[in-house]
This record gives sequence, C-alpha cells and structure tokens, in this order.
Amino acid sequence: MTRRRTQVAIIGGGPAGLLLGQLLHRAGIDALLLERRSAEYVLGRIRAGVLEQGTVDVLERAGVAARLREEGLVHDGVEIGFQGRRHRIALKSLVGKSVTVYGQTDMTRDLMEARAASGADSLYEAEDVQLHDIGGTQPRVSFRHRGASHEIDCDFIAGCDGFHGVCRPSIPANQLSVFERVYPFGWLGLLADVPPPWSELVYANSERGFALASMRSPTRVRCYVQCGLDERVEDWSDVRFWDEFRRRIGEEIADQVTLAPSIEKSIAPLRSFVVEPLRFGRLFLAGDAAHIVPPTGAKGLNLAVSDVCYLHEALRDYYRERSERPLDEYSARCLRRVWKAERFSWWMTRQLHLFPGDAFDRRMQQTELEYLFESKAAQASMAENYVGLPLEAR
Ligand code: FAD
Ligand code: PHB
Repeated sequence: MTRRRTQVAIIGGGPAGLLLGQLLHRAGIDALLLERRSAEYVLGRIRAGVLEQGTVDVLERAGVAARLREEGLVHDGVEIGFQGRRHRIALKSLVGKSVTVYGQTDMTRDLMEARAASGADSLYEAEDVQLHDIGGTQPRVSFRHRGASHEIDCDFIAGCDGFHGVCRPSIPANQLSVFERVYPFGWLGLLADVPPPWSELVYANSERGFALASMRSPTRVRCYVQCGLDERVEDWSDVRFWDEFRRRIGEEIADQVTLAPSIEKSIAPLRSFVVEPLRFGRLFLAGDAAHIVPPTGAKGLNLAVSDVCYLHEALRDYYRERSERPLDEYSARCLRRVWKAERFSWWMTRQLHLFPGDAFDRRMQQTELEYLFESKAAQASMAENYVGLPLEAR
C-alpha cells in the first residue's frame, strides 16, 4: 500500500470538485482529486447549459473563463410558451442581468485543462474510495487505483461526488436532516447538431406536458420533453422525440424544427433534495452531494459553483489565519442560498409540468402563469431568481 499526504482530498471530478481544485491551487493550497470514472466518461455526460452571471464571475476569478468569454452565448431574456403563445421574460431590462449559455461539458473541459496545466494531481478511475476518521482532526481516504491500494492523509475532505457518491453516506445518519420531494416524471433530453431556430430558451407548458427548447452553440440544440418515470430511452426514436417536442413547443417553432439525428439522448428523474448541515467534522459537502434541484430553474450547476466558492474562501482563511470560524459558517452560508434556489426550482417545476393533480391544481397553474404574463412585479421576481441571487460577500 502506498501512503501520501495532501492538504485537501477532493472526492469527485465533476464541476464542483474540479473548480474547487482550481480555486485552491490559486490560493496555494495543495489538493488531490479522486474521480471514480474516466475523464472521457465525465466529459461525455450531457447536463447543464445555463450559467448565472455570478457563476461566470467565479470562473473569471478562477482563471478559466477565456473560452467561455469567446463562445458563451449571452441571453438577455427567456420565453415561456403557454396555450399557443410565447411570453418573453426580459431578464436584462427587468433586473439588469443576463445568463450565459455554455455547456457543463465545455466548462468541465476548461477546468480539466487548467488542472493539467497547473500540474495538480488527479486520479481518474479511483475505485472503492472510503473515508476514515472524518470526525477527528486527521482524516484519511483509502482507495484502489490500477490494482494497487492507496491511502491519503489530509487536513480536510471535500465531498464533491454528486448525489450517488460515497461522502454523504459516510456521515452518521443521525447527524443529518434530509428534505426531499420526488416528482412523478422525468426529462428526456436530446442533443443534435443543427442551428436552433429559437434565439432564447423556450420553456413550454402544454396539455401534453412540458418541453424545453435550449441550445449549446449556434449550431447545436438541446431539447427536452417531460416523460414518465417508467419510460426507456430505447423506446424513443429520434422521430418520436421530435414529433412529441413539436406538438408541445408551439406551432411557430414546430414549423421551423429540423428533424436532426440525435448525438445523445438520456432520461433524468426530477428531484428536490437537501441535507443539513453540509459538514461533519473534517468533511465538507458541496454541490449535488449535498442538494439536488429539478433542472427546470437551471440552478444545479450554479449552486455547485457557489458552494465551492464559499468552501475555498473558508479553507483559504483557515490556512492563512488558522481561523476555524469561516469553516464553522460554511454550511449555514451555503444553505441560505441553496434553499432559495430550491424554492425557485420547485416553483418553476410546479408551474410548467403536467401533474397528475385535479382540475383545481390545473386552474391554479393557469392562473399563476396568467398573473406572471400580466404583472411586471411577478416577472421581475422570476427574472431575479433566474439570473441568480447574489453570492454573499465575505
Ligand atoms: P456531479 O457533476 O455529479 O459530479 C460528481 C462526480 O463525482 C462525478 O464525476 C462522479 O463520477 C464522481 N463520483 C461519484 N461517486 C464517487 C466516488 N465514490 N468516488 C470518486 N468519485 C465519485 N444545472 C444548472 O445549473 N443549469 C442547468 O441548465 C442544468 N441542467 C441540467 C439538465 C439535466 C438533464 C441534468 C441531469 C442536470 C442539470 N443541471 C443543471 C444540474 C447540474 O448538472 C448538476 O447540479 C452538476 O453536475 C453538479 O455538479 P457536481 O460536481 O456537484 O456533481
Ligand atoms: C440545458 O440546456 O440543458 C438546460 C437549460 C435550461 C434548463 C435546464 C437544462 O433549465
């Protein structure tokens, strides 16, 4: 068995783990990153596409925004389709901020390249990662890599290993409060190389269920339709997908949609989930390891970024000033932002999907949307949340 030491062991090489590694590197803090999958696998996962301005600012500060600045698509508005009409929420003119369309895959690649350039250590395909002594001051991480056993001594462990990772379950169950809502549907997503015939994202509430018209670049679309939890991707040919998407997204767009072949198709369940607190001893949870939002509000990746920004500040202050206080405040600081994004994502999900509820629920949904389209105040509230609530300054 080989044994080594690092200041911070980062578990998980998704956007949370990679960004934390980059921010710590710039603060002169040594971190080793362990990822269960291969780098190619991580890059092949198609997920988020919308970055808040606050997220772009953190990426700038981390020194990984050069390509994002070049290729990111700045959107000043977003549209909601309902009963055959499209209603624009003018983000920029309502609240003075925009969002940037830039794929999670691209952001992940930028972070992987920066990490490789910095010489910081990452181990991909790390198997059987286990945490030890997290309640004490000398935690350890054991794992296997290329057939050999390894152990790392560290000061802290950052649990950035997503919803299905090992870190959250390593905390004694009686130390965590869990809050959860599972929705009775999923999203079926399709990626295709064809120029989007829409200039801003369109979230559509239709009688047949939700649909979203998004994009990754001027030549690549990303589209979703609400689907049943028991449905299988194999049952959705491209033709069936485009047919359903066109029926839901509204006539005007439907007429312009090209039935392009998919380059990726996948189903994601929808869930709201939070654990409290985000810390146990020397283990700190960040991103999807600690909380999940349904993708309707485009908040998951942005929350991972704000957690990691707060965590790196707390670790930096610990090493600079030997002050534990920022570490003690980490969880509460994150949760204030997390819960507001949970509320917004839950609200967007409720207003835009077809639920099994009764006629009263459907009327409430209709009334909520009508109110939104008529009221500048309601639009400003939605816009304020969609572009992202501000990160707390230290
Ligand atoms: P992950 O990306 O899940 O990364 C965790 C990493 O840990 C993974 O690479 C995993 O392999 C690794 N890991 C797991 N277990 C272990 C282990 N035992 N040992 C070592 N490594 C391990 N968010 C937005 O903000 N905007 C959007 O528009 C948006 N759209 C979305 C659309 C869809 C369809 C989906 C599914 C999600 C979307 N999200 C969106 C959410 C966003 O993708 C996630 O919130 C984000 O990936 C969280 O990053 P993370 O690093 O915390 O977790
Ligand atoms: C995406 O482009 O994948 C996307 C955009 C907005 C969302 C969710 C996903 O709310």
